[in-house]
Amino acid sequence: REMPLITNVSDYEELARQKLPKMVYDFYAGGAEDQWTLKENKEAFSKILFRPRVLIDVSHIDMSTSILGYKISMPIMVAPTALHKLAHQEGEVASAQATAAAGTIMTLSSWSSCSIEEVNSSAPGLRFFQLSVFKDRDIVQQLVRRAENAGYKAIAVTVDAPRLGCREADVRNRFTLPENVALKCFEGLDLSKMDKTNASGLAAYVTSQIDSSLSWKDIKWLQMITWLPILVKGVITAEDARLAIECGVAGIIMSNHGGRQLDYLPATISCLEEVVREAKGRVPVFLDSGIRRGTDVFKALALGASGVFIGRPVLFALAVDGKAGVRNALRMLRDELEITMALSGCTSLKDITRDRVITESDMIR
Ligand code: FNR
Repeated sequence: REMPLITNVSDYEELARQKLPKMVYDFYAGGAEDQWTLKENKEAFSKILFRPRVLIDVSHIDMSTSILGYKISMPIMVAPTALHKLAHQEGEVASAQATAAAGTIMTLSSWSSCSIEEVNSSAPGLRFFQLSVFKDRDIVQQLVRRAENAGYKAIAVTVDAPRLGCREADVRNRFTLPENVALKCFEGLDLSKMDKTNASGLAAYVTSQIDSSLSWKDIKWLQMITWLPILVKGVITAEDARLAIECGVAGIIMSNHGGRQLDYLPATISCLEEVVREAKGRVPVFLDSGIRRGTDVFKALALGASGVFIGRPVLFALAVDGKAGVRNALRMLRDELEITMALSGCTSLKDITRDRVITESDMIR
């Protein structure tokens, strides 16, 4: 059967739904509890409109940017998501190769199904490591050291998950890891207390080891044990942005975890300006959750983001067509951002200013 023509990243979601086992699709697609935030992440973008300028020469458009001093092709990066091997047998290696080919940054999850080192040796390219902080700080230190040694450029500490949100689809499906998929970051570590009878034993163990006592002093501790820049992933208020900056972080990733943690959080795009205002340009503010279009990327940049990350579109594209799928998903988003810039009269990212969009609060004023 011929593959239907794919015209945007959401097409991959529908095809992935048809292709993947229900348990896997639901794990990737689902959100917490009522999934209100999951839905709002898309709706909030749809309420932001454009104020384009015309008769500007847009025959050359430059989408390149610098993130923490590293030059990338576009302000669209790959968010950390768990267990890519559930989508495709090549797992994170394929995603990393596709992301490197697109000239941008991939963030490897602490919950990955390929190891830190495997991903590093799979392709040259810029990568960040997402750190979940576990009770055993020795494990945390080992993960950080491995990321440093494998040439990762930054640590993104996840701060919105002191416990895992309740994703009811996973409960209903009795989500378990298949035998051929493992949490590779934990291989080779001393996990003597763990039930090794099956792969899900590891998942259950690792989940139980998330440190819910994590606090700002631990961010300080992380800064002491590594020379890599630290990003905090999951801040969505001005108050926390202030604390993060006082703590000396290198950047803030605004995230509601794609609607998978606390339900009834607003969309990150709705909180972006409050955080940007607090940051006052001292650190870059990035955003994820709900980005599905180049127009979404443009809106985030117009409201002050330095770049965005995408989560699920990578997983769905990987499921449908492996490395080529991820490469294509990134290319489609890039092309969409390019045409959005052209039609708004922007030739480089610095032209994407606040006056190019109208938000609901502008309309009230
Ligand atoms: C995630 N996310 C995530 N975040 C993180 O810090 N560590 C992780 O291991 C994971 N794992 C994970 C698995 C799956 C299946 C999803 C969908 C998400 C959250 C991720 O980094 C990001 O915040 C969201 O995916 C962004 O929202 P979108 O782009 O999926 O809407």
